[in-house]
Amino acid sequence: MTEQLHEIRLTVNGAAHELRVPARRLLSDALRHDLGLTGTHVGCEHGVCGACTVLLDGAPTRACLVLAVTAADHEITTVEGLTEPDGSLGPVQQAFAECHGLQCGFCTPGFLTTIHAGLRDNPSPTHEEAREMVAGNLCRCTGYQNIVKAVERAAALRQAQGPAGQAQGPAGQGQVERS
Ligand code: FES
Ligand code: FES
Repeated sequence: MTEQLHEIRLTVNGAAHELRVPARRLLSDALRHDLGLTGTHVGCEHGVCGACTVLLDGAPTRACLVLAVTAADHEITTVEGLTEPDGSLGPVQQAFAECHGLQCGFCTPGFLTTIHAGLRDNPSPTHEEAREMVAGNLCRCTGYQNIVKAVERAAALRQAQGPAGQAQGPAGQGQVERS
């Protein structure tokens, strides 16, 4: 018996995509396999590691715990959407590069999306708040010290950008693509 497919529209990083997916298709798989957005990584596939974290209507969300059909008609931001409109690194990405906040990089997309949302909600975290901001994500390489430094550096970079830089949304608004 062939599996029933559902037509949905996923809005990712400001661009709308129309696709046909089975009801049980995970959002993480739809992003990676249907849309080719492989920046979202899949580690544990049961909500523990945080590597698959994307922003769903701005809220950090485990993409491995959400069905693609559930995410239809919501705004999704992946790590690919964190760059500046001109394609240069966003402040959190820049801070990770400067502070050596990654080694193998497998966990990094989930940290970047989590911190992006965390600094939006708390632009000037204390050291303890910076630690708490990343407490839900696992990294097997870095020991976390440089990731916390990157949170603090990203906060400084965002503040240097001023309100205009901090209000920037994902690029590509208004496009519709079919998969
Ligand atoms: S892959 Fe989703 S939380 Fe680990
Ligand atoms: S840099 Fe390797 S798991 Fe975090």
